[in-house]
Amino acid sequence: MIDFERLAAEFGTPLYVYDANEIRKRVRFAKGVFESLNANIVFALKANGNPAILKVMAQEGIGADVVSRGELLAAKMAGMQSIVWNGNGKQPEDITHFINKSIEYVSIDSLEELPLWDGIDVIKLLRVNPDVDPHTHPHISTGLKTHKFGVSLDKIGKVVDRIDGLHVHIGSQITDVDPFLEAYSRVYDCARKFGLKFIDLGGGWGIDYTGEQLDIERLKAGTEEIFADYDGKLIAELGRFIIGPAGYLVARVVSLKPSDKIFVVTDAGMNTLIRPVLYDAHHRIKTLKGTGKTVTVDVVGPLCESGDVLARDRRMEVPIPGSVIVFENAGAYGFSMANNYNGMPLPAEVLVDGEDYRIIRTRQGIEELFSNVKL
Ligand SMILES: Cc1ncc(COP(=O)(O)O)c(C=O)c1O
Repeated sequence: MIDFERLAAEFGTPLYVYDANEIRKRVRFAKGVFESLNANIVFALKANGNPAILKVMAQEGIGADVVSRGELLAAKMAGMQSIVWNGNGKQPEDITHFINKSIEYVSIDSLEELPLWDGIDVIKLLRVNPDVDPHTHPHISTGLKTHKFGVSLDKIGKVVDRIDGLHVHIGSQITDVDPFLEAYSRVYDCARKFGLKFIDLGGGWGIDYTGEQLDIERLKAGTEEIFADYDGKLIAELGRFIIGPAGYLVARVVSLKPSDKIFVVTDAGMNTLIRPVLYDAHHRIKTLKGTGKTVTVDVVGPLCESGDVLARDRRMEVPIPGSVIVFENAGAYGFSMANNYNGMPLPAEVLVDGEDYRIIRTRQGIEELFSNVKL
């Protein structure tokens, strides 16, 4: 059991806390799912890019999916080996930089991007858009024709001699197995038809924020069935599944404000955890020191926005002012999306490893907010 109160007292709040053993457990579980398919698993750094966390994953032998020089640096600092460079806005001048850092794969997002890669020694995957609805929040759906990502499958035939494989990623926080299998089948049919030897299956495994869960056993069985005869290499890019449930956000209750309902005001806001406002996301919240009264509250942050709500109409035990509350499943797209709105410094991060714990990112100082400003 992590002692959140002790960590909050030592390192201050808001504070992200990660459980190294849970990360290892989840990496091993994912490896088990893909074992019979011998897939290469990489972690999507967009979910969490702290190099100390990535190092735990690198020690478990997984690689990285990166979209920027910053994410590439983080992956390299962590010692991650196999690297996929993703993204729909790659700058041609970055290519030499990435190639010099020995990336293994590139995911090419469009036919327009393709010529940039002719003659370059890297495994070339063309991102395809299978036009499959993942039934997730519209902001994290990526595999429909209306989305900006990838190339439609009917265009692949013209360019097969310039690529090594295909890449598909239909969205994130998907809890329905069928869209995955539909997308995989379409991509597999295309790869087999053209003899392509690599397929990157993307990520997207949904986690249990609200009680709804992805049936991973069924996904595993369906994936094994589709690729049973495939003699090429599979890659999987998981983000949220690996780090989401291994991370917590600890916030201190600044005050209780009675109104139509009680507002629980915390020192974490949408600058610290943007998912509730961006995706209507639900994070379970634990009250550590309660008043004994369970009612419906809004948990809000300190920012000058009415949208600065971390949980709306939440039935929970009202915490004692000055105590800390804990947001669960906060490891993915938590710190990585945090920002400095309203002049708020970025929070600190702590890694707990069994009985040990250590700071892995100090709280940003307010003077750092202006360290690159020229007056
Ligand atoms: C191309 C790509 N791969 C992998 C991921 C990781 O997705 P998730 O965190 O849902 O596993 C993302 C995130 O949306 C992505 O855009």
